[in-house]
Amino acid sequence: MQLADRTQRIGVSPTMKVAADAMRLKAQGVDVVDLGAGEPDFPTPPHVSAAAHRAIEDNFTKYTANSGTDDLKRAIGQRYRTDYGVEYTPAETIVTAGGKQALFNVALALFGSGDEVITHAPGWPTLVEQIKLADATPVIVRTHVDDGFALRAETILAAFTPRTRGVIINSPANPTGALIAEADLAAVAEEAARRGVWVLLDLCYERLIYDPVPHNLPGVLVRHLRDRSVLCGSASKTYAMTGWRCGWALGPAEVIGACNALQSHSTSNAASITQKAAEAALRGPQDCVTAMLDEYRRRRDQLVEWLSVEPRMTVHKRPTASARPPSSHRRCSTRRASRSPPARRSTRPGSCACRTRRPWSSSARGPRAFWNSRAGARRSACE
Ligand SMILES: Cc1ncc(COP(=O)(O)O)c(C=O)c1O
Repeated sequence: MQLADRTQRIGVSPTMKVAADAMRLKAQGVDVVDLGAGEPDFPTPPHVSAAAHRAIEDNFTKYTANSGTDDLKRAIGQRYRTDYGVEYTPAETIVTAGGKQALFNVALALFGSGDEVITHAPGWPTLVEQIKLADATPVIVRTHVDDGFALRAETILAAFTPRTRGVIINSPANPTGALIAEADLAAVAEEAARRGVWVLLDLCYERLIYDPVPHNLPGVLVRHLRDRSVLCGSASKTYAMTGWRCGWALGPAEVIGACNALQSHSTSNAASITQKAAEAALRGPQDCVTAMLDEYRRRRDQLVEWLSVEPRMTVHKRPTASARPPSSHRRCSTRRASRSPPARRSTRPGSCACRTRRPWSSSARGPRAFWNSRAGARRSACE
């Protein structure tokens, strides 16, 4: 069968494939530890689900504005103002069906044939495939285990050519959890400003940083590159809302307008009910996020402890973003890719280590028990 060229350039998301395989095996009764998709095993916080119930009861079930409701756009703007001190108006905001669609819209809006777009590996495979779907060429810079997989400015800058049109940075990164330091992003942004290059930030794991390091990447980009940068975020990992499909992009009104046009001919608005739920998540109390993060950290530490005494494995606990090893440890390599990097099967920053009943998993007590036990202890602010 003759399919369109673009389908030959990409394959099915390896993450989705691993998830489907794991689901199939589980249905057969196999005990599977699935490290494929970054999927919280917590249920969505109760106050978020309650907002969705209310939306259904109020018949808030029609089309909304294609780019999302003004209320949700304002809630996103408020969140970024509170967390990072940056300002984005509703005209500079689009609500999408997940962070994936936000990134895809932006890739289609900005990149095209003849353009090179730099991103990093090990990384989330979809970023590379989206660059290809936009007819651009992915340029992949590698990060290294002996450097904690840190993304360094000099590595990215070494990959710039006259054809570079954009840089896509995922921090915290999937699957390594590594962060780009603010100073490194600033150096990239300054060079991007000089060359007229776009910087696209994938912030889907932005609230899942284990160690208290400065990581105000939106603030850095707004300072150095406000009119050539786009921030993409998502409710999926932060609020355990992977199935609800809600993400967003923040950037110059012209780019957001182009994303809106693209989305108006593909999916239209993100689900109306989801938008109400996301608004409750963003505006509501945030200690549910802290509670999940604490639990992820506890599991991470436990896993590192166990694996550290396993003679067949080498475990590198991530250094913080600001820790810079001696320069001899820093290597720099670039690959202009025609094929996607292989699928990764590591625990990613937002995921639990385990999706079956394990001794370290709170879901061993039943998923509701997580929120209920907190509610019992101090009437959780998540309700
Ligand atoms: C790095 C990264 N960015 C973006 C996404 C998209 O998430 P979603 O579309 O569920 O918001 C994912 C999902 O796994 C991811 O790992």
